[in-house]
Amino acid sequence: MAELPMLRDAAIGINIRSGLIEYVGPDSGIPAKQLSGDPEILDAEGRLVMPGFVDSHTHLVFAGNRADEFYKRASGISYAEIAAQGGGIRKTMESTRSASRQELFELAWQRYLRLLDNGTTCVECKSGYGLSVDSERMAMQVINDLARKAPGVMQRTYMGAHLIPPEYADDRMTYVQQVAAELQHYAEGGLCDFYDIFVDPLAFSQVEAQQIVDRGRELGMKLRLHADEFGDDGTAAWAVANAAVSADHLGGIGPGGISALAASDTVATLLPGTMFFSGHGEYAPARQMIDAGCAVALATDLNPGSSLMYSLPLVMTLAVLEMKMTAAECLNAVTINAAHALGLAASLGSIEIGKRADIIILDCGSPDELAYQVGTNLVSDVICGGEVIKRHGVMFI
Ligand code: NIG
Ligand code: FE
Repeated sequence: MAELPMLRDAAIGINIRSGLIEYVGPDSGIPAKQLSGDPEILDAEGRLVMPGFVDSHTHLVFAGNRADEFYKRASGISYAEIAAQGGGIRKTMESTRSASRQELFELAWQRYLRLLDNGTTCVECKSGYGLSVDSERMAMQVINDLARKAPGVMQRTYMGAHLIPPEYADDRMTYVQQVAAELQHYAEGGLCDFYDIFVDPLAFSQVEAQQIVDRGRELGMKLRLHADEFGDDGTAAWAVANAAVSADHLGGIGPGGISALAASDTVATLLPGTMFFSGHGEYAPARQMIDAGCAVALATDLNPGSSLMYSLPLVMTLAVLEMKMTAAECLNAVTINAAHALGLAASLGSIEIGKRADIIILDCGSPDELAYQVGTNLVSDVICGGEVIKRHGVMFI
């Protein structure tokens, strides 16, 4: 893994009109044209300046909470047992179905602000708690509303295939066909950037998922997957075979999956916050994966059941302690590699000329401190596309 390129006494020139970076280099070398016309100067006062975090896996749109399950798990009842008792995704589905579009928007917007406050300037956001045609459409409308209002970049993912809803428990294929048929609505309307499927014994089999993926391919849609979360189901290799942009979770990935991912363009997105919060699986073998040549991203998996977590630095802490990743690997995993996991690496994820000015300033001097200062928010300033959203710890939105 490459070392992190660091510049000291550096300056960044931003074109406020385009929101793009026009200069990166020594403080002393700022081109005269950058300084003409009374430019606004933001002094980082020697603090760490880095690209905004990219969270490439969240389930931001839901109503209700599952705090009771959090404590039940701590008392020894497993995630799967809770789901079998009527909790889990199904419980959030019920509260999400009974919320209005406006309520869902407000709840998701407050969560989005928390992400921004923590330095996340690009977010991927999935539906998947409606689980009926109408409810999923409403969740995707909310995601589109959020993407229009958000100062940062938001990527929109349709995840009707999160779970088979109870109405279709005995007629699974009908629901699978419904999700496959719905893809056309999202593709034709330009209403999503990706679609996602939870391929798992708890959710959709590969045979069921293949029906959806075949339709997605016909429509030219981009796929991401929840894969090999609890065991080696062969889904990582299946994700590669189906040209998924990203395969996520991978707690149970085996040697075949690792070599398939290493030889592919599919990014391995690891979610250690989920294992920490829910205790329902193994941490992914990140060391083996990186050493084999997999491109690894880290994300929060923000959701009400298995990871109600907003902070990518906290995810980095877990990646260091539980998956033995280095500081440089973690930094790359929450910036440029996560941008790759969203197909956006050409336009964000690093501080380079021509990229979006998505930049954060942190109350520390070195990137090593992000994972090390556990559970605190070091982000003092947030700039999204050249716009100052947070300055000296105060949010302006
Ligand atoms: O990514 N794995 C599947 N779905 C979510 C869990 C959602 C929930 O429990 O509400 C996840 O961890
Ligand atoms: Fe997820």
